[in-house]
Amino acid sequence: MSERGLFYNEDCIEGCRRRIPDASVDLIITDPPYGIEGDKLHRHYNRKEEYVLEGYIEVPAKKYPEFTRAWISEAARILRPGGTIYVVSGYTNLIHIISALQNASLKEVNHIIWKYNFGIFTRKKFISAHYHILYYIKPGGNVTFNTECRYGLAEKGKHDSSPNYRDREDVWIINRENKPGRAKNKNELPTELLIKMIQYSSNEGDLICDLFLGGFSTARAALGLNRRPLGFELSKTAFEHGVQSMKKIEPGYLLRELRSPIIRNLPNQGREWTDADKDYLTARFRELQMSGKTKKMSLEILSHELGRGKWSLIKALDSLPLR
Ligand SMILES: C[S@@+](CC[C@H](N)C(=O)[O-])C[C@H]1O[C@@H](n2cnc3c(N)ncnc32)[C@H](O)[C@@H]1O
Repeated sequence: MSERGLFYNEDCIEGCRRRIPDASVDLIITDPPYGIEGDKLHRHYNRKEEYVLEGYIEVPAKKYPEFTRAWISEAARILRPGGTIYVVSGYTNLIHIISALQNASLKEVNHIIWKYNFGIFTRKKFISAHYHILYYIKPGGNVTFNTECRYGLAEKGKHDSSPNYRDREDVWIINRENKPGRAKNKNELPTELLIKMIQYSSNEGDLICDLFLGGFSTARAALGLNRRPLGFELSKTAFEHGVQSMKKIEPGYLLRELRSPIIRNLPNQGREWTDADKDYLTARFRELQMSGKTKKMSLEILSHELGRGKWSLIKALDSLPLR
């Protein structure tokens, strides 16, 4: 336990059963042990041993399916209805994770690919440089998805692109953090990746749980964004190092670094189309086209005049005969 969050140096399955009430957690972000002898991984990664924190506790491959079913069933129990879970996984044991999420009646929202730098070099095959992020929700309640938390829907990037659309694509290119000369947990998740999940799927004050804290990266990002962190770590070494690292975190410090999205509220967004609106749309669109305006320019003018988004206009135009 610590004043910076609720942290327990114990097995997460037993710990959850004993300590965490049903339906009490808003968001789970977790990166379970790999079941691939991950306790020896730093040799493959050619990392300087002195900077890799010892104490990673692996799960034997044979026990992986049963272990996964047990922790995911606890995760499903502690999530509130409408709550979200993101599970980061490699591909070796992906099948067990997906099957356990489905067995626990969690609902798939997206299967995200996280592409990172520094995949392990191989000569006779392609280099693996991605992880899977399984984004599921617990049905039955209000789901938090903050669509415009990073970029407004109407914001424009280079060549008229939409940064909001790009940010919400299901392939995320985010580099791992290089921390030369500083101790870190094996495969610590980058803060940028965690910030993205936390921003989209929670609000300030929400309770965020990581069942496998490792280097406490989820807990640090959660507190940095003014959320309440909770979690478990079985390794004493990793746990003690993590609890110390939490003491240096000022609650909310990451909020200052976030970009403010530009949100343009269109007055008629989401409202039913009346017959008068439809008549105006078709007549005015035709007029604009006749005057030599491109389709893009016509839509921009119509968006201002009708107070509706571009996609709503396109959908309406497609469904109407052009009179
Ligand atoms: C892949 S690491 C998590 C890394 C973490 N996301 C980070 O960014 O540092 C998995 C962690 O789970 C811990 N672990 C293994 N079995 C556990 C269990 N039954 N309960 C809690 N933690 C466990 C391991 O010691 C390891 O630190």
